[in-house]
Amino acid sequence: MRIEFARSFVAPGESWASTADRLAEGRGPVLAVDLSEEMLRFEVDDEHRLAVRPMTEGDFPDVSRWVQTAHVAKWWDEHQSLEQVAAHYGPALTGADPTRLWVLEVNGRSVGFTQDYRIDDHPEWALLSGMPGAIGFDYAIGEPAWVGRGIGTKLLWVFLRDIVVPAYPDAPILFAAPDHRNAGSLRLLAKLGFTQGAWFDEPQSDGTVETVVGCSVDVAKVMRSAVVTGE
Ligand SMILES: CC(C)(COP(=O)(O)OP(=O)(O)OC[C@H]1O[C@@H](n2cnc3c(N)ncnc32)[C@H](O)[C@@H]1OP(=O)(O)O)[C@@H](O)C(=O)NCCC(=O)NCCS
Repeated sequence: MRIEFARSFVAPGESWASTADRLAEGRGPVLAVDLSEEMLRFEVDDEHRLAVRPMTEGDFPDVSRWVQTAHVAKWWDEHQSLEQVAAHYGPALTGADPTRLWVLEVNGRSVGFTQDYRIDDHPEWALLSGMPGAIGFDYAIGEPAWVGRGIGTKLLWVFLRDIVVPAYPDAPILFAAPDHRNAGSLRLLAKLGFTQGAWFDEPQSDGTVETVVGCSVDVAKVMRSAVVTGE
């Protein structure tokens, strides 16, 4: 089922997501399809069961494999071996690092992973991004068979709206900064209602810099909702 309405249709104080839920009359979960234009497009997807679950150590072999897959490695060049993945992501599983790690599932199969964190926990990133107080997140659809089929947009919507937004009720903004050449990632964010801001250079571990595009979304305007669409 498709749900479409103009931005001007949204009532004062109501988010785009809440408006879509109201129009779906309980037939949800309602997923964002394209929120980049004046007409906002949502849908109910009866074909895929989408879920986001906490990552465990048992997922490290998948994570290692995913970050070595060509379409991910192009933008994600660190911590690739199983040992490196365990060393880098392990502290977040024990609570030593407040970053939260998640696995994305389609119909019970793991297809990718995400992480979220308070940008203020990373003072250098807060300064560089100009986004103190915001929540940062990163994401990859690691299974090549699932790339470019619209599933990343849907899974990221479930992740942001149901996992990230409720966890940080005081945070007004979500923020991600893809490489300026990462057209797929930039388009995905636009489809979820993000707007592009400043371009800036992010130092990399190998001494180079990557020019990234700061993308942010106003949580209250776009996705805050009482209705939960996923796990
Ligand atoms: C970015 C990523 C999560 C997108 O997931 P996905 O499931 O492939 O994305 P979707 O199929 O939902 O497509 C989202 C939009 O991006 C477009 N897109 C995808 N790949 C693209 C590419 N290489 N170039 C241009 N547009 C692209 C799609 O066409 C779609 O837009 P449209 O509906 O207007 O046609 C996935 O490609 C990925 O994991 N990439 C590697 C890791 C990465 O870059 N992570 C982000 C770091 S900031």
